[in-house]
Amino acid sequence: MPDGDVLEAALRAARTYLAGLPARPVGSRASLESLRADLGGPLPAEGTDPARVVSELARKADPGIVATAGPRYFGFVVGGTLPAALGADWLTSVWDQNAGIYVLSPAASVVEETAARWLLELFALPSTSSVGLVTGCQMANATCLAAARHAVLERAGWDVEERGLFGAPEIDVVVGGEAHITIFAALRFLGLGAGRVRTVPADGQGRMRADGLREALARTRGPAIVCAQAGNVNTGAFDPLDEIAALTRERGAWLHVDGAFGLWAATSPRLGALTKGLGQADSWATDAHKSLNVPYDSGIAIVRDASAHRGATTATAAYIVKAADDRRDPEDWTPEFSRRARGFTVYAALRSLGRRGVVEMIERSCAQAAEFADRLRTDPAVEVLNDVVYNQVLVRFRPAGGGDVDAHTRAVIERVQQDGTCWLGGTTWQGKAAMRISVSGWSTTAADVARSVDAILKASRSPA
Ligand SMILES: Cc1ncc(COP(=O)(O)O)c(C=O)c1O
Repeated sequence: MPDGDVLEAALRAARTYLAGLPARPVGSRASLESLRADLGGPLPAEGTDPARVVSELARKADPGIVATAGPRYFGFVVGGTLPAALGADWLTSVWDQNAGIYVLSPAASVVEETAARWLLELFALPSTSSVGLVTGCQMANATCLAAARHAVLERAGWDVEERGLFGAPEIDVVVGGEAHITIFAALRFLGLGAGRVRTVPADGQGRMRADGLREALARTRGPAIVCAQAGNVNTGAFDPLDEIAALTRERGAWLHVDGAFGLWAATSPRLGALTKGLGQADSWATDAHKSLNVPYDSGIAIVRDASAHRGATTATAAYIVKAADDRRDPEDWTPEFSRRARGFTVYAALRSLGRRGVVEMIERSCAQAAEFADRLRTDPAVEVLNDVVYNQVLVRFRPAGGGDVDAHTRAVIERVQQDGTCWLGGTTWQGKAAMRISVSGWSTTAADVARSVDAILKASRSPA
């Protein structure tokens, strides 16, 4: 049993960290060398008191901790942690449940089942769809595409789980020109090959072009899978899902939607136009650790045809006591076997927010992204590159008196990161260097946006 001291040490460190989170510099303050000096060293021969281990870890790790859970982290696409999800995450570790099968944790199974049902309701997806809680959208894409591979080959009379891909009918995989890298990683894992996809050109916002999809599908013959995207990682743009769904259905192909953060637009009536046609897909991948603001790691794989999903991911053996009734064995729906009971945090987040709270949180992030764009645009040196339809903003900065816009934009990003008021990353969008602003954290306020805009504009105006 851990004694009280170690949990008190953890609580003290957590309280100190959380109290300082809104004010601390957002980026890491530590060098690689100093972190190695503080946290490295040889394996100790003897043990150390657990409370001391935890206190020292908290103190020594602190300079290298990035305030991603705070209100002014706008890098990549990163959510914070809602208080209820944080509390539930602590209990998840205390309980240490193996949420693979029902008998190992009936509570984890029922909580997952409930969270899964709530998620389907929120996204307005078919209630009979199956849901797997995985580590992130990378694994959600892999899980959904495993189900797709199962189904399209089954229709062609091929059992891929038994026979593998050796001698199987070839599957045509069609992706948009702006598909996320994790789609390609998933295709590699599944033996479908990242390099043999048919790529449909994207438009200026990164959306798959429906006319291009029509042409690509016309060239396919056998089993086919189309990967669409809800929420481009740079622009936040959504593929035209209704047109894509109609073309895919006409062709008899499987439609997968990568909606790592974009799927959450479907929860909001105000943003609903972005996801029109979403419900016609066959599978959907998303994250809870981004837009829902639960701690890492938490992804969600949803499949319309539960038998294809289960067929692709279940595993069993004589010593596994499988549920005889409709009880949920969570491992049936994920590539993992032993697994963290990550349903507790999703459940707690949804319960603490309710439908209304989820919608407000998503809409607030989008409104704050628009606010970023509007405020930054007031400076004539700033160019916003994308249509800000969701939570992502791409910005470029012209140097005073002319000069290299790419180099200046990269320098502004660097200066903002050094300044520490907020943190944003860079990208290259259609050949142009740009700052990426992603608003995903539940605790960001209007004042945080204003402070961050000031810091960005100051960095863009300061001499090189
Ligand atoms: C569109 C898209 N798909 C998939 C992913 C991968 O998600 P994860 O990092 O949770 O595996 C991301 C990450 O940003 C994304 O933006």
